[in-house]
Amino acid sequence: EAATLRNTFKDDFLIGTAMNTPQIEQRDTKAAALIPKQFDAVTPENIMKAEEIHPQWGTYNFGLADKLVAYATANNIRVNAHTLIWHSQLPAYVRRLQSADSVRQFFTEHINTLASRYDGKVYSWDVVNEALNEDGTLRKSIFLQKLGDDYIVDAFRLAQQAAPHTQLYYNDYNIEQPKKRAGAVAVVQKIQAAGVRIDGIGIQGHWRAGHVPFDEIEKSIVEFGALGIKVMFTELDLSVLPNPLNGNTADVNQTAAYNAQYNPFAAGLPDSMQQQLASDYEQLFKLFLKHKDKIGRVTFWGVNDGQSWLNNWPVRGRTNYPLLFDRQFAPKLAYYKVIESKTKS
Ligand code: G3I
Repeated sequence: EAATLRNTFKDDFLIGTAMNTPQIEQRDTKAAALIPKQFDAVTPENIMKAEEIHPQWGTYNFGLADKLVAYATANNIRVNAHTLIWHSQLPAYVRRLQSADSVRQFFTEHINTLASRYDGKVYSWDVVNEALNEDGTLRKSIFLQKLGDDYIVDAFRLAQQAAPHTQLYYNDYNIEQPKKRAGAVAVVQKIQAAGVRIDGIGIQGHWRAGHVPFDEIEKSIVEFGALGIKVMFTELDLSVLPNPLNGNTADVNQTAAYNAQYNPFAAGLPDSMQQQLASDYEQLFKLFLKHKDKIGRVTFWGVNDGQSWLNNWPVRGRTNYPLLFDRQFAPKLAYYKVIESKTKS
């Protein structure tokens, strides 16, 4: 049997991918063929966010989430549901709410409905997503402003009651960085001190090739693991492109100079960058394997390079190469280095 990601890491941690909407609708037949061979965990990239699954108060679009659960069950794949409470991708009716009571009512109904419906059907929930600022303080979201500092504990308490058989996670980006990491530790400890269950923490892992903060990542695995919860890498991808600075979010293609600076690999990824990406992924997986007792799952944010959100962020229309499979679904050098990280470890 040929080595795949799934069978290579089967005794170590779950290995996942985000699934976009065409994939969940089973319109992307190439991805549908590849995913069950390579992955044993999936996270819906968009369809379980409030804006999509709860577009009008009390009206839910369960169809695609149910379809995802059926697909995952048939293929022995675990679903990480994403995400219950997030300041972004909120439906317009939530953003218009004024009173604390109405926000509390949405918050409670939304968590209860989704967590109970999928209990025993999904493996885990990202209960709260991206609640922290870079300095470790709580982000001024509608939830913080209307419900106060305890809203995160409240969200986990509601989720625990509604979904007793589901793993419950806090998920965020840059929480490997010291200040934000300290904020994340405080969030977890506050939940635990309230006697509420939290099973794991998701480090998103949107990094840049050549700039991966390996030391902070390792410290984070150790520090979060010491809290008695699983550590997940939940949205892993390594951008090969420079970030336009100072809020310059003008689209590419406006000038040749802009493209040369910010979209340099439209014609293909140079070999040196291919090597950099591969060696960064290899080093990351060596680190994950070293700490595999603490790590529950490693999920890539997308199947192939052409499907990555990083082609459209922070500007649209770039050509990025952040994943293990190329635009034709062929495994890249980075894929083979990830597999090798296991056989050489
Ligand atoms: O599907 C609609 C399409 O019908 C419409 O015409 C088009 C016009 O804008 O939008 C399409 O929806 C977009 C969707 O992606 C699917 O492509 C949304 O506008 C766009 O906002 C959405 O972006 C997603 C983003 O979260 C915001 O929700 C990305 O796909 C998704 O990769 C990204 O994922 C987040 C995680 O949830 C949390 N952590 C960060 C990560 C990256 O931003």
